[in-house]
Amino acid sequence: ADLRPRNTFGVPARARRLVEVSDAAALPRALALLGADARPLLIGGGSNLLFAGDAEDALTIVDARRGVISDDGEEVVVRAAAGADWHGFVLWTLAQELGGLENLALIPGTVGAAPIQNIGAYGVEVGERVVAVEAFDHETRSFVRLDTDACRFRYRDSVFKQQPQRWIVTAVEFALHRFAQPVLHYAGLRDTLAARGIDDPRPLDVAEAVIDIRRSKLPDPAVTGNAGSFFKNPIVPAAQAAMLVAAQAGIPVFAAEEGLRKLSAAWLIDQCGWKGKRDGDAGVAEGHALVLVNHGGASGAELLALARRIAASVHMRFGVALEPEPRIIGAAW
Ligand code: EPU
Repeated sequence: ADLRPRNTFGVPARARRLVEVSDAAALPRALALLGADARPLLIGGGSNLLFAGDAEDALTIVDARRGVISDDGEEVVVRAAAGADWHGFVLWTLAQELGGLENLALIPGTVGAAPIQNIGAYGVEVGERVVAVEAFDHETRSFVRLDTDACRFRYRDSVFKQQPQRWIVTAVEFALHRFAQPVLHYAGLRDTLAARGIDDPRPLDVAEAVIDIRRSKLPDPAVTGNAGSFFKNPIVPAAQAAMLVAAQAGIPVFAAEEGLRKLSAAWLIDQCGWKGKRDGDAGVAEGHALVLVNHGGASGAELLALARRIAASVHMRFGVALEPEPRIIGAAW
């Protein structure tokens, strides 16, 4: 099967077989069809994958059903199947006047992929809204429902990302609110709302501001192949961050867990002069140093080679190791 239309980088890749499952209940049968020990590659929107080689077997869940599970007048729990388009789902929750996911508007990909790397943007991580994730567990060959704690959400991380061979996410349940206070920690979001003269934003106002910010900074994968941020923001010991601050005027440093600080990968890469650079058709976005782009004919291997050069130059100059955010298929980082 041709995987080029199934990855937002738009790089050529193939899978030996690709199985589409319309209902999670059919998963055991689909897996049996692939072979007793099959652990196919899960493909959702293909927006967090870099194919540096071909896949063996691939599987995609197309079920996009969504609905309300419970409603106490304030908190509303909604459930969506893995195949639902993330942004379409966010717009649906906003149309029901439910707050909670507005900061995560316009993120490419599916609902099923959202908890895997704990998608986050503009002050909210999806794990903060997840009540439970429903999944198929290859180890026990059974369907399970993991509560938030069991999902072990961290910055761009979860149990599903740590054990990619083990889980197939089939649905996600979210706790949303009718009267939620908007999350406006991110300065750029407050500024955008203020510029529009909105002081008391509703969830839909926040989503519209987020959509504008994303469109102004991030390339649209439908136009230029990309997978959003290519690197995670590095988390370093506070002492190392303090040394960097002393040596580098203007280096952004953000809070992280106890004793740790989060650095800005975009800033580090930008300082090394990479923004807008290209090597053949593999390049760095003009608008954001953290986004690698395919100008048309790049292969996954070429994008990976560029990513390694970027990481090496950041390591040389700042002594900080960058790690890729997307899952790389067919090569090790
Ligand atoms: N910056 C630069 N050069 C650039 C871009 C940014 O120096 O080319 C600096 C900015 O000045 C700012 C800092 O880097 O101080 C952070 O930039 P930004 O606010 O754009 O956020 P980010 O840390 O680069 C993260 C997420 C994004 C998310 C935004 C907004 C990661 C890896 N990325 O980016 O998520 O949309 O915050 O919350 O955590 C994604 O994961 O694919 C993604 C796009």
